[in-house]
Amino acid sequence: MNDGSIGLLRQKLGEIADVNSAIALLQWDQETYMPPKGANARGQQLATLSALSHRLLTAPELGILLEQLRQRSTGLDPDDAILVSETQYDVKRSTKLPESFVHEFAEEQSKAFQVWVEARAQSDFRKFQPNLERMVELLRRKADLLGYEGSPYNALLEEFERGMTAEQLRPLFAELAEQQSGLVKQITNAHRALDTNWLNQEWAPAAQWELSLRVLREMGYDLEAGRQDKSVHPFTTSFDKYDVRITTRISSKDLFSGLMGSIHEGGHALYDQGFLDKDRRGTLASAPSLGVHESQSRMWENLVGRSLPFWKRCLPALNELFPSQFERVTAEAVYAAVNRVQPSLIRVEADECTYNLHIILRFEIEVALIEGTLKVSEIPDAWNAKVKAYLGLDVPNDAQGCLQDIHWSHGAMGYFPTYALGNLYAAQLFEKILEEIPDLWSRVEAGDFAALLAWLRRRVHVYGRRKTANEIICEATGQPPSAAPFLRYLAKKYGALYSL
Ligand code: CO
Repeated sequence: MNDGSIGLLRQKLGEIADVNSAIALLQWDQETYMPPKGANARGQQLATLSALSHRLLTAPELGILLEQLRQRSTGLDPDDAILVSETQYDVKRSTKLPESFVHEFAEEQSKAFQVWVEARAQSDFRKFQPNLERMVELLRRKADLLGYEGSPYNALLEEFERGMTAEQLRPLFAELAEQQSGLVKQITNAHRALDTNWLNQEWAPAAQWELSLRVLREMGYDLEAGRQDKSVHPFTTSFDKYDVRITTRISSKDLFSGLMGSIHEGGHALYDQGFLDKDRRGTLASAPSLGVHESQSRMWENLVGRSLPFWKRCLPALNELFPSQFERVTAEAVYAAVNRVQPSLIRVEADECTYNLHIILRFEIEVALIEGTLKVSEIPDAWNAKVKAYLGLDVPNDAQGCLQDIHWSHGAMGYFPTYALGNLYAAQLFEKILEEIPDLWSRVEAGDFAALLAWLRRRVHVYGRRKTANEIICEATGQPPSAAPFLRYLAKKYGALYSL
């Protein structure tokens, strides 16, 4: 074995990364600028490149090379050793699913998606039920193919939140559900309506766009290595750490949705811009889990972007960009409006106090489906009962209930928990940040985010996949992941806002 073999590995991984970046660029174009009639050809282009990427990753020569490198891993420098083990992990997971299964799954995905779109439009779960039944069967087969310990749900969770298990999530989420639904009841009973009437006016889209760019620049998002465009659903995509793009959507009726979307995606983008140069075109330039990635977006959006110092900072810009509309509005009023708590039926519209409740009910249903204790036909009843129990609301129809999210039509079960984990990780990291940067809030009020970004770079971003989610949280905060910091944060912030 000569020393060229690690070079050969890097070359092969570079080729795979290039194909994956080309896929991501085509997908970005599909969501932003592609004319509608381009959809057919784009589907074929993506299918061809996806098959090529899978073929390169599962090629026997790559497997042999990795195994040879693993056997002499004590002679490798630590970075190369982890590159080998992480790549081997990816290769093993992809080869566990036979080509025929991947094909069958992809076909059912596109059928299920089309039926879901119609079923949602007609608010008719029964229409989607046969597709979802097949999807759940496929997911149970997928879990068997991948292998698992404990719940079969763990095999699916692994894809999005590696190392996390249903057994760990159950007690964590049970505590969150109890505490958060208690807090929401207190807020509802307080009958203290925060004034949001001033929000009911037109907000010039061009001014909103300019505001979002100013905020992104202040956050430290490098617009020479990124850009913002418009799309139906905001997202972040990355082709390299020097080309990380975000999208947002602007509504003239809603002052907050565009900006908060930009800040959220900006948080994701800062993570991807913060990987190490030496990890480019390789396995390590990515987050260890979606929960950790989401912790960055939610920290910027909620802990920073929904804070009073942040709105004090923004007020002069709001006055300049929306002349006369902010003459009688204080930073305190904006802060109250952007943090209004109101139990709602739709997850993506949920506030910080209710958001996790939406996730927990989905998690409970997913686990029961995969473990076989709930039938697909029983979903609407189970859903509606949980919405009543956690949020105190009656679900009027399936469109506003169990048909609202796209995830199940794509067969993405095990994904939802990462949103709630992102909230928990964000609060836990932020508690430590406030301890280590005691003047953070005066910095935020002055538009100085450099110390915060430097902290995140040093404690989270630079590791890429070198550390697991658990290791990142433990090493940065001295504690394993827990719900306590998030619950402390909610109690303090909303206790003050609603005079509880
Ligand atoms: Co996100």
